[in-house]
Amino acid sequence: MDKIVITGGRKLKGEVRISGSKNSALPIMAATLLSEDESVLENVPDLRDIQTMLRLLRSLGARAQFEKGTVTIKPGRNLNPIAPYKLVSTMRASVCVLGPLLARMGHAEVSIPGGCVIGLRPIDLHLKGLQALGAKMEIQHGYVHARVKRKLKGSEIFLGGAFGSSVLATGNVMMAACLAQGRTSIENAACEPEVVDLANFLKKMGAKITGEGSPRIEIEGVKKLHGAKFPVIPDRIEAGTFIFAAAVTGGDVAIKNLEPSHQNAVMDKLAQAGVRLERGKNTLRVRRKGRLKPVDVTTLPYPGFPTDLQAQMMALMSVTPGISVITEKIYPDRFMHVSELNRMGSRIMLEGPSAIVHGVKQLSGAPVMASDLRASAALVIAGLVAEGTTEVHRVYHLDRGYEKIEEKFSALGASIHREKE
Ligand code: EPU
Repeated sequence: MDKIVITGGRKLKGEVRISGSKNSALPIMAATLLSEDESVLENVPDLRDIQTMLRLLRSLGARAQFEKGTVTIKPGRNLNPIAPYKLVSTMRASVCVLGPLLARMGHAEVSIPGGCVIGLRPIDLHLKGLQALGAKMEIQHGYVHARVKRKLKGSEIFLGGAFGSSVLATGNVMMAACLAQGRTSIENAACEPEVVDLANFLKKMGAKITGEGSPRIEIEGVKKLHGAKFPVIPDRIEAGTFIFAAAVTGGDVAIKNLEPSHQNAVMDKLAQAGVRLERGKNTLRVRRKGRLKPVDVTTLPYPGFPTDLQAQMMALMSVTPGISVITEKIYPDRFMHVSELNRMGSRIMLEGPSAIVHGVKQLSGAPVMASDLRASAALVIAGLVAEGTTEVHRVYHLDRGYEKIEEKFSALGASIHREKE
């Protein structure tokens, strides 16, 4: 296993190029199953989760390869509709193959992903949406067995859950509805840019979709979809992670190849915190000179502040004088990073779904344990500003979602490298 070793205290300076979006690429890769033709996806990041999805698609019978940021997938006529526990348990996004398999093959058996360290993560909305399209669902031996007699049928579906909309459930139902008979409307659909990207890919395959990016998506089913060539959008969470890293070190960083409009909630909070942000067409320059100011943040579905940047925001607020309150509304248990940040000298207390952060003058480097992808990113950010050396263990979490993270930070002047444990 590898660890990341960081010596803090250097201001980040220079330019960093953002990779393609993991959370866009994964459902889009699943969507290629909706056609037997070959599809070509560009700007795909080289990550462990992408490799897992490629393995899953191959196990379903598709030909799938990755070369220099381009994924080529040819599902072919016959698919094996079983997504095994071994792959689904390592990556929840595997559940995205459920809708496409059901729509193409009329039958799917997909292992139930189970919870994970960021909390309970049910799939009831995925099942409810697909049932509304006419699928019969049964849970047996840890698998969802989904079947449809002849064809899925368009329907009016309300996809709201206890925590609001669901990104992947919206994607799953939208994918299946593309090949259903008649019209489907999804009410309380997720509005995340990754849902819009998926809809754009499906439209390139010949699907008829309107309303993506709003809470009501309409889909007119078609008989067949064809292969398509498509570039994936830039990763807004990777971009946000670099924005926080630049801000915490008081540096001057130009973030290239991002979509600035995806960062509106982040930019709003950082402007309140005293960070200077200059927005270009596909760039954002992040600078900070004076002291940071505390801000309160609540995570919400898009366009609200993303849960996937909550931990990184906490790392920044942990060295911001004053008290900030960070409330998690998507995953109320997503606070595994708190005890690790406190080992580095931060003063963070938990009160239900809120973290009360008393900013400290200085963090001190320490060996820490990454518990999940975004928690790991927060520990790296804390390491960049801490006095002394921080070792982030269990780096495989970071490798699930950040492409060449230590190379990108090194190029900005950070003292960071990877070592074998
Ligand atoms: N939920 C339900 N029932 C469902 C589905 C979701 O109650 O059937 C709840 C969840 O438990 C959560 C809320 O709804 O409280 C939102 O979850 P959502 O379904 O939107 O999450 P997801 O689609 O499974 C994606 C990202 C996550 C990101 C969330 C929220 C991918 C592969 N994953 O997950 O990304 O946190 O949306 O934006 O797109 C990450 O990249 O680190 C990550 C965890």
